[in-house]
Amino acid sequence: MATPPNSSHASSQRWSSRWLFVLAAAGSAVGLGNIWKFPYIAGENGGGAFVLIYLVCIAAVGIPIMVSEVLMGRKGRSSPIHTMRKLAKVSSRSERWSILGWMGVLAGFLILSYYAVIAGWAVSYIWASGSGAFDGASAQAVGAHFDAFLASPIELIGYQTGFMILTIWIVGRGVTKGLETAIRWLMPLLFLLLIALLVYSFNSGGFGQGFAFMFDMKWEAVTADSWLIAMGQAFFTLSLGMGTMMAYGAYVPDDANLGTTVVTIAGLDTLIALAAGLAIFPIVFANGLEIAQGPGLTFVTLPLAFGQMPLGDLFGALFFLLLSFAAITSAISLTEPALAYLVEEYNAKRQRVAISLGIICWALGLGTVFSFNIWSDITFVGGLTFFDTVDYFSQNILLPLGGMLITFFAIWMLPKGLVDQQLGIDSPKLSLGWRLVAGIIAPLGVLAVFLSTTWPLLSGLWQ
Ligand code: PHE
Repeated sequence: MATPPNSSHASSQRWSSRWLFVLAAAGSAVGLGNIWKFPYIAGENGGGAFVLIYLVCIAAVGIPIMVSEVLMGRKGRSSPIHTMRKLAKVSSRSERWSILGWMGVLAGFLILSYYAVIAGWAVSYIWASGSGAFDGASAQAVGAHFDAFLASPIELIGYQTGFMILTIWIVGRGVTKGLETAIRWLMPLLFLLLIALLVYSFNSGGFGQGFAFMFDMKWEAVTADSWLIAMGQAFFTLSLGMGTMMAYGAYVPDDANLGTTVVTIAGLDTLIALAAGLAIFPIVFANGLEIAQGPGLTFVTLPLAFGQMPLGDLFGALFFLLLSFAAITSAISLTEPALAYLVEEYNAKRQRVAISLGIICWALGLGTVFSFNIWSDITFVGGLTFFDTVDYFSQNILLPLGGMLITFFAIWMLPKGLVDQQLGIDSPKLSLGWRLVAGIIAPLGVLAVFLSTTWPLLSGLWQ
């Protein structure tokens, strides 16, 4: 007897509206990358000049890859692995292209394993800030708090576990009940929090300086590297190269216009990255502190700055709440390629699959937890810790390779008519222009980033 189709199959699920897809994809895109990385690299690489370069990269590389992923997802209407298999068949290409789907599953898994740990830090800092732990504290005290936190595996595991349970609970409930409900609440709250923080930072006394750091046109600070950094950032921040957008694309209604939808998503992501910079830097400058990036900026400089300000406990807690929301809407998207595949392949219950996946991912994340304490001396190739290795392999190898091959496939392997029809392109000139940008410029741009980041490590291996 044939098994009845499982109602949680990708092919039968849809976002309730085009807007929900926009919010879900923006939720995936807006993450730790926007808040702790973008503002800093913009300020350091030429301010307004870098912002312009970044916009060019978003337009020439990010948008074409995202359009390719979403259109392939919508055409395949299944998990990235099955979508690739189906599309390869339709185009009479080798089914081995499904390896792209597998790479995405692996990348999502690896990224989520450490994303949950770092998101856990943000959650812990909601309490720490809100309870006044940094009130008037010295730089040493704030640094010591962070060091002591990282040195405690039990604490880190506690927050990582909590974050993972929440993520798995949301995704296990399915697209409509789980993902959409979370997104309907979290995204508007994220916007509101950001606005509140912007108003606060506007009144901090450092707004002019913060604004100048991010937007003054400092062309002299722009180097060839700035282009590569902008391209790499455009790529990671839009969650490209691992099938997330393909998996989300599988649920996009047929009548949604892909071009305008993707431009809206990329626009929202960029707007939030810029707003994050304007919310953060003025507070840092107002307190005469040095700008840093990554964990240092987020977990030391910022708590220190908030600790010196009136109402700093409240707004510090709100900032970490914002970071936690941004992280959870990205985390849920990281599970979708693997989850959708297992549900389809084994006709399994989504909830069960989610729990199993969550447990394995959680266990892998313990390696990241220990990289900050008991395993901090254990290093792999290039002197990288377990966490750095997982981060490097997923972000610098799997994502760029995946992104390059996905656009290559979309433009050169799929039947030409199919892409034009999915994009609603009816003029031959437009079709050619699209193939030039998405089929040549975007993959070459990613290739440049890929080589520039992997070359130092690879060449080190030869010696
Ligand atoms: N875009 C997310 C960020 O900026 C990270 C991410 C990458 C999420 C790939 C999903 C897939 O933090």
